[in-house]
Amino acid sequence: MSGGLRQQPREAPPGVVSSPPMSRRPSVRTAPPRPTRAIGIDVGGTGVKAAAVDVTTGDIVSPRMRLRTPQPSTPAAVVETIGLIIDSLADQGFADPDVPAGAGLPGVIRAGRLMTAANIDKSWLEVDARAMIAERIGREVVLVNDADAAGLAEMTFGAARGRMGTVLVLTIGTGIGSALFTDGHLLRSTEFGHLTFRGREAESLVSGAARERRGIGWKRWAREFSEYLALLDWWFSPDLVVLGGGVSKEYAKYERWLTSRAPIVTAAMLNTAGIVGAALAAAMGPAAGDSAAIAPGAEDTTVGGAGPAAGDARAEGATGAPSAGAPSAGDPSAPIDM
Ligand code: BGC
Repeated sequence: MSGGLRQQPREAPPGVVSSPPMSRRPSVRTAPPRPTRAIGIDVGGTGVKAAAVDVTTGDIVSPRMRLRTPQPSTPAAVVETIGLIIDSLADQGFADPDVPAGAGLPGVIRAGRLMTAANIDKSWLEVDARAMIAERIGREVVLVNDADAAGLAEMTFGAARGRMGTVLVLTIGTGIGSALFTDGHLLRSTEFGHLTFRGREAESLVSGAARERRGIGWKRWAREFSEYLALLDWWFSPDLVVLGGGVSKEYAKYERWLTSRAPIVTAAMLNTAGIVGAALAAAMGPAAGDSAAIAPGAEDTTVGGAGPAAGDARAEGATGAPSAGAPSAGDPSAPIDM
């Protein structure tokens, strides 16, 4: 029992009309209600995926559609691929024009454009990505970094649901994506895959694609990746590390060699985190993914609000469990239901 101070209701002096106590934040009268359904689009190094998502539950409420990422992955080719998938969802009744859309892309997003393009065609740097996608799919689209999208999904519905403290989400696949949360707030576009590690860009040494390219086994990879984690730990002291992306599906193969001060869990929403997170970004509005879109009064990207009080999150222990299952291969000619 706490014997702490309680606020007593004060009596208004005579002649003064009392107003309700200011115990609640003033309501934002101008904010429109958030949609409960949104389309999430995830543009990855190998596949472009999309589905309609119930953003209140994180459930996918349509078939999950996937096409191979065109090569070269130019804006025109990728946007057309996105368009084909959304057309297909619309034909099936899941993408009416009033359903908002969000798209996760592998780069720093600013003002609806990609500012970096490490794992996608460099010509993305020259185009207005948001306008191109919006025009093709017939609705506004919120752009978000792909790893930030995956992080939003894991924080809201997945392995880090409701976690306070510092949560670091790493997606390990073609590149290394990162999403950093403190007490549920996302620090956008951290791009830790490009930190200098052993004199090189980290993702060029320890991403999933780099492991294959270098032909190194899981043991050597895990030892190097542990060093990379130690570097991140030195700077950011995460309370929890969530591993996502293709490499996290192989967790059992390297877990025994992985070391980390912070507890590690694997992503709970492996195949859907990118889609669900992009849909969440759509429902939250532009501030979710695009730092140049933030305006006074805009929604922030706080997630997982139901978690424990801020403080020493290390006492909570790790949650979540390794997930199983591999994605199905894409059909290069038509969107398929994953
Ligand atoms: C990109 C990031 C992206 C990550 C994973 C990196 O090369 O710079 O923006 O999140 O790959 O796709």
